[in-house]
Amino acid sequence: MCGIMGYVGSGKASGIILNGLARQEYRGYDSTGIALRCDKEIKNAKIVGRVSELVKLVEKMPREYLEARSGIGHTRWATHGGVTVTNAHPHESEDGMVILVHNGIIENSREIRADLEGRGIKFKTETDTEAACQLLAHLYKGDALAAMTELARSLAGAFALVIMFRDRPDEIWCARRGSPLVVANSDEASYCASDPTALLEFTHDLFFLEEGEMAVLKPGGVSFFGFDGVPRDKAPIHLSWDSIMADKGQYEHFMRKEIGEQPDVMRLTIDAHTDVTSVSMEKSLNLPKDIIKRIRRIHLVACGTSHYATLLAWNIMESLDCEIEASVDVASEYRYRNVHGGDDTLAIFVSQSGETADTLAAARLARSKGTHCIAITNVRGSTIDREVENTLLSLAGPEIGVAATKTFMGQIGLLALLVMQILKDRGVLSANDEARIIGSMRTLPAHMDSILEREGEIRALAEKYAGSRGFFFIGRRECVPLTMEGALKLKEIAYLPSEAYAAGEMKHGPIAMLDEHLLVVALVPNTDLREKTLSNVAECRARNAPILLISTEGDAEAREHADDVIYLPSVERELFPFLAVIPLQLFAYHVARTLKRDIDMPRNLAKSVTVE
Ligand code: F6R
Repeated sequence: MCGIMGYVGSGKASGIILNGLARQEYRGYDSTGIALRCDKEIKNAKIVGRVSELVKLVEKMPREYLEARSGIGHTRWATHGGVTVTNAHPHESEDGMVILVHNGIIENSREIRADLEGRGIKFKTETDTEAACQLLAHLYKGDALAAMTELARSLAGAFALVIMFRDRPDEIWCARRGSPLVVANSDEASYCASDPTALLEFTHDLFFLEEGEMAVLKPGGVSFFGFDGVPRDKAPIHLSWDSIMADKGQYEHFMRKEIGEQPDVMRLTIDAHTDVTSVSMEKSLNLPKDIIKRIRRIHLVACGTSHYATLLAWNIMESLDCEIEASVDVASEYRYRNVHGGDDTLAIFVSQSGETADTLAAARLARSKGTHCIAITNVRGSTIDREVENTLLSLAGPEIGVAATKTFMGQIGLLALLVMQILKDRGVLSANDEARIIGSMRTLPAHMDSILEREGEIRALAEKYAGSRGFFFIGRRECVPLTMEGALKLKEIAYLPSEAYAAGEMKHGPIAMLDEHLLVVALVPNTDLREKTLSNVAECRARNAPILLISTEGDAEAREHADDVIYLPSVERELFPFLAVIPLQLFAYHVARTLKRDIDMPRNLAKSVTVE
């Protein structure tokens, strides 16, 4: 939700900030703006639209601002106040002393605004952010640290703030509570941004601000403080990601590039956590065996696509052993439920960004109850990584497309192995199951490559069905989480009505919707549930719905049940979803492409959901 960037140094601030905003645009993209400093003058340029249009506006600014050595920028995902130029960031205080950008929600903005308006200060926008901006100007009496400390004390809610004071030319201030902010320093320049990918071209050594921390950026270095104003020492975290990894390369969309990277994600995951035919996560999993043995229940908690990854993990756990009670919950519910906690409970939180507000709140709740916690995230240094005692890093590399694809693959690979490691440590994983699953996992990357080579086939099907009025994704057991993921991908990037159902549930209501304009995508691997699922498919066919089957190679008879079939290589039944997700992603991608949707930045969405 919103991307922010600050720069002070010897380089050209305009180009550096615009580039940084473009890299973070997936975080929010309804409006954007930049403020550039020339001595004591600061000029704002803001537009409703994308960073590419802001670039054109900035090019028209007076030359001295194009040469500016410091500035701040923002790309917005609106929460408070409509999408207008006035509401776009940066915001400026009435007296012009403070220029500020913000990510998060100031929960007491109405009270602050009422108080300041009572003192005669005039507000220009409908945003919550302006309250922070005007308040800071009101508090500032020449001592920036004192004003920032007071501001942090006065604000409720979540914020990452980046600030310029008009009379402090070589400084940029920033503060964090609840929304991410990363800081870096290199070659006589200092930077801050919401997302590390914006800074990787300058340095890989990054300082992630903790909750309740602030920093002042100067060309020669960065100083850190707590919200109490006391200086803090911080060590950088080295991020091995390459900035090239965050580029689109030859692809039209990041999403397509990232779908294609999944075989490598699986290869890396398997190499990192297995030994020939056995799981070996002991080095990365910092949870003593005696704790694992004591655990009586496991909570799997996440949002969106990450939630579907946890449903898959739950399914694998159940398939391998039922002795441990496991439950799956979306974080936005878990955080408000009276869930069991304590020493006999393990909670696993999954978040590719590591910044999802609900997942963080759920993890904090679990920790407050003394529950053992593990986080699975793709971003080293993210909030969840720093707050939860045990983190397993998924090995997907930076994901820029708003729709999660390769991070899902990284999550399900790790989760499958984690589940096996836990069962193994408890002495309930049979050697046969371990070798069976690991052996089959090793075949996945090559199978994924072969599916990707058949993209043309999937694209043709997507073009054929892109005009459908709606889509039903159905499947049973291990395929149910994938029906949800298939439907979500179509919703978010193609904006088409799509529903996910356990196949047996169709007849309890949804079947009433079926006719020749609704496509049913049925996941029917060759397992013990094949016949049952095919009966459900037949029920849909009898209502004239066209059928697209995703089936196992060798099941020639599947063709008789469907208008079209996508065949996938045969793997152990728990792993069929690992392959089936690829055609579902490609199908959604090509439907969206046929409909000329903005695939990498779908409307109304943002990649990192840092508000509740
Ligand atoms: C879907 C998607 C979202 C995220 C969800 C959780 O493609 O990307 O549904 O999965 O917002 O995000 P993380 O995993 O960052 O917590």
